Amino acid sequence: MDSAIAPHLRCPRTRPRGVGDGHVPPAPAWSARAQEPLGQAVIGYFGVQFRSDDAPAARTAFEALLDCLNAADGPARRDLAQYDDAAGFQNLIAVSYWDAPSSYARWRDSARVAGWWDAARRAPGPLGYFREVLSPSAERLETIFSSDQRLEGLGALMGGVSDEIEEHGYWGSMRDRLPLAQTDGLDGDGALVPTTDPDGRGRRVAGGRNLVVIRSGQDWSETRGDERRLYLDDIEPTLRAGMDYLRDRGLEAGCFCNRYVQMIDETLRPIEKSFGVSHWRSLADLEQWSASHPTHLAIFGVFMQVVSDLKDLKLHHEVCVLEPAAQDYEYVNCHPGTGLLGAIG
Ligand code: HEM
Repeated sequence: MDSAIAPHLRCPRTRPRGVGDGHVPPAPAWSARAQEPLGQAVIGYFGVQFRSDDAPAARTAFEALLDCLNAADGPARRDLAQYDDAAGFQNLIAVSYWDAPSSYARWRDSARVAGWWDAARRAPGPLGYFREVLSPSAERLETIFSSDQRLEGLGALMGGVSDEIEEHGYWGSMRDRLPLAQTDGLDGDGALVPTTDPDGRGRRVAGGRNLVVIRSGQDWSETRGDERRLYLDDIEPTLRAGMDYLRDRGLEAGCFCNRYVQMIDETLRPIEKSFGVSHWRSLADLEQWSASHPTHLAIFGVFMQVVSDLKDLKLHHEVCVLEPAAQDYEYVNCHPGTGLLGAIG
């Protein structure tokens, strides 16, 4: 078996793993691996927010964003999603992955992209725009996939997988997959503060030390028969209840914001994939929620019971633990419940 931690990121542990050496996982799982070691990734969530009456304008604005993403130095990989939020707004989101901060910076600062963002900030009309950009270094990232085929998100950017990994199938395994957690407790300071926007057109938020972002994805597009029914009738409604809890009352669990999104294709039509993306005060808060909240315990329990019969349902997650300088959040003309704005009031 392999370790989830890539060979070049392994070091003598000063912090023990959450499980003994004889641990045998109940089912196989894999972690993403890049062919050339990844130094630092950039993950950008770019969104257009609108009321349904403004859908045509929003679509045009989103297509302009996609054109920008196609420009030189654009992301190597992107996923599209739509999200109907609790305030009654719709959001189109492009999740974009770069394998180096330098190419992201060149893209962001190019005349075309800077001009597009500036125009959006100056004349947003009825639309809202946001960008939430995370730049985790490799030792602050972990991924897990239930299949080694059709990797999603960061895994698709990295392009390959480990052998079957040891560190999964027990609470605390997320931490054990994080390279930096070999020697660091990754305590969060819980800070989340509004910061000044130089021209006052957008609202900016500064995230604190070791804020955590998880994208947890589900792909049921290849499921059939009993497996499809199990996912759609048993697992998904419980997942949705858990996602609604995090959206509406997440702060009491240390979750600053949560979006449970429907993935869409390039023509903006729904596909049979979803993910939850949430920002957390700390890794400990995320661990506590996943190991104790009835909704996650219920889906975890069902999953563990039927895991050997699950053939085509694909699950994955990617987690990053971020330093303050690796977070950049800006919201233009968005309602006050959008993303991290909802947590600062
Ligand atoms: C871990 C099931 C959605 C957060 C796990 C594990 C399973 C599971 C089986 C253990 C994985 C292993 O170590 O082998 C599911 C299913 C989901 C789902 C079936 C949906 C269909 C989510 C979502 C979140 C989440 C949306 C977002 C907050 C976590 C976390 C862990 C975990 C943080 C790691 C806990 C730890 O290692 O301490 N989940 N999950 N899960 N899940 Fe989920």
